[in-house]
Amino acid sequence: MTELQLSKDEERIFDGEAGEGPKIAIRLLNSLGELGGAERLIPVKSAHISGVSYKNVGEGGIQFLRKISHRVNVPTSLNPLGFDIDNGGPVDIDDTFRKKQMEIVEIYREMGVMDSFTCTPYYYYNEPSFGDHISWAESSAIIYVNSLIGARTNRESGPSALAAAIIGKTPDHGLHRKDGRRASVVVNAEGPLDYTKFAALGLFLGPKLNRNIPIIKGQKGAKGIELKALSAALSATSSIPMFHVEGVTRESDLVEDSPEVMEVGIKEIEETIGKSSSQQEPELIAIGCPHLSSEELDYIAGLVKGKKKVGPDLFLFTSREVKAKSAGAVKTIENFGGKVFSDTCMVVSPLSNNYKSTGTNSGKASFYLPLKGYGNQKVAFMGIMDLLRWVIA
Ligand code: F3S
Repeated sequence: MTELQLSKDEERIFDGEAGEGPKIAIRLLNSLGELGGAERLIPVKSAHISGVSYKNVGEGGIQFLRKISHRVNVPTSLNPLGFDIDNGGPVDIDDTFRKKQMEIVEIYREMGVMDSFTCTPYYYYNEPSFGDHISWAESSAIIYVNSLIGARTNRESGPSALAAAIIGKTPDHGLHRKDGRRASVVVNAEGPLDYTKFAALGLFLGPKLNRNIPIIKGQKGAKGIELKALSAALSATSSIPMFHVEGVTRESDLVEDSPEVMEVGIKEIEETIGKSSSQQEPELIAIGCPHLSSEELDYIAGLVKGKKKVGPDLFLFTSREVKAKSAGAVKTIENFGGKVFSDTCMVVSPLSNNYKSTGTNSGKASFYLPLKGYGNQKVAFMGIMDLLRWVIA
């Protein structure tokens, strides 16, 4: 274990001179830094905090937040919570859940954290640039910003990202250093892959990569939203912090000498989709894990415009800002009979209060929703066109 050298100012915070919150925060960063082999703390430009839903935070989490509570030092965004604050839904909740959830929100507000409530803060709210050192929790966003934007963050937890937000610094190790960002596995992926197939690639690769960063070859036409699907699925099945895609992502020249090589064919991708798919009509179609971009909302609006809705409920999830900026698309989807929620998502809301089976195009949601304590759902994982067949007359 390396000894992390604190500056004189940091030592004073460590000794409690800046109060209890900063003292807890810097001690947490110090311990994590020493475990990770960091020699110093470095400034961060932003933080993003996960662990917001009362479903995940619980009573113990609220006590921790009260203890560490202190004004944040850098722009800090916040992940989704258990319901849509202004509009209600997506499912019924009881008064205790509502009260406890808003208690958590108020603690974060007092700290100066943004009311973003999204896992895609990189569209608005909190947009890092190439080379920025940041401290982000929310595994899908971590992989996305490291891989597609080239910002630098380790896979932080909610508490460690909050500690970094309070101190304005993070330990200098892992993904903050060029060597920590090198790929050590080449994945030759047969294509072409669409959104759902990229999600399936993430589900398939996660357990096989053993925390190694991959460089994916054979996918030079990959689009940003498809790689968002890959980021989310990889985040669910592994602790990998980033990937490279040859000819697409900006640091794809960072490859170790003599990397391991893996071949992934369409057969493996289709088998992965098949394993997570139920062909039975679900009670709910849920799209937007990770939260939808304006481009995705426009695409879905185009598919349902002027059509008649039948069958299961249709819920879409996005951020407040994207919803406001895509008001036309949202109206089209609502006229069709779908609902667009912000602040929350299909996984962090207590979905099982109202539903037993859900269809989704998200690899991450297909992984979490069947788990007890997350959704307890029967899941149909398939492409958006197949999902919409159930709701368009
Ligand atoms: Fe985002 Fe919820 Fe999925 S936080 S990545 S929509 S599980």
